[in-house]
Amino acid sequence: MAEKQASAPHAQAAGGANGRSSSDRGRASVLFIGDIVGGIGRRTLLECLPLLRERYEPTFVIANGENVAGGLGITPKLADELIAAGVDAITLGNHTYHRREIYAYLESEPRIVRPANFLRSQPGHGTCVVERDGVRLGVINLSGNLYLRAGRSAFTEIEVALADLGSVEHILVDMHAEATSEKVAMGWHLDGRVTAVVGTHTHVPTADGRLLNHGTAYITDVGMTGPRGGVIGVKREQALEGLLTQMPVRFETSDVDPWLMGVLIRCSQPLRAESIEQILMPRPNSSRAS
Ligand SMILES: [Fe+2]
Ligand SMILES: [Fe+2]
Repeated sequence: MAEKQASAPHAQAAGGANGRSSSDRGRASVLFIGDIVGGIGRRTLLECLPLLRERYEPTFVIANGENVAGGLGITPKLADELIAAGVDAITLGNHTYHRREIYAYLESEPRIVRPANFLRSQPGHGTCVVERDGVRLGVINLSGNLYLRAGRSAFTEIEVALADLGSVEHILVDMHAEATSEKVAMGWHLDGRVTAVVGTHTHVPTADGRLLNHGTAYITDVGMTGPRGGVIGVKREQALEGLLTQMPVRFETSDVDPWLMGVLIRCSQPLRAESIEQILMPRPNSSRAS
């Protein structure tokens, strides 16, 4: 397991956060897992999660599930499977609506969120609150506006989403975006107002996990939970054929070299992170060769 840890150079008191005084009420840890890709990603998660639970004892497990159904979208059955495996809340992204059968589920299941800056008329909701050990974690999903279709600005709708959450000890924002600039900007925009801003969508982990000036944990992209031996999840032969021939190619999910990619965020005060640790973990007992 490769790991990197960034710690607070000057952790700040969180007395002003939501008017709370700093206390054990803010003590928590969040394991956030990057885009789970296809059956191979699901199996990797199911095998790695018990090991990660034992090692880190996270208070919350949050996962991006936008690619869990054959690489595109999510179904009610698969969402239920993730929740049964111990995922407290599921975030999504640009592939939210690929499977029609998820539409009603997005309305009825509070623990799954799609980007809050989608149109209000689109199925689902963009925020949720989960509670464990007396700690409430607000989860917000956002979509970038560059190269992705999202009806409204992430930078204005985040204010509405934060107001929707009400009083919570911690807030995690999954900024699902293509452009690194939007993700970095969202990190600074929310620094000191949320516990963590984690980027998803590119399926490639970045090396910039750190605490921002006012105590928000940040990473531009967590990466994916899926096959590193493909092209961001797709069989590499098919991805290359499409690029070389410029003709349509049916993509399937690669099963070569699956890894779980995530971050662990530790907190001891409300709305502040103490550290962010990158988790890059190969699926146990799997071969890296194709
Ligand atoms: Fe995406
Ligand atoms: Fe994705």
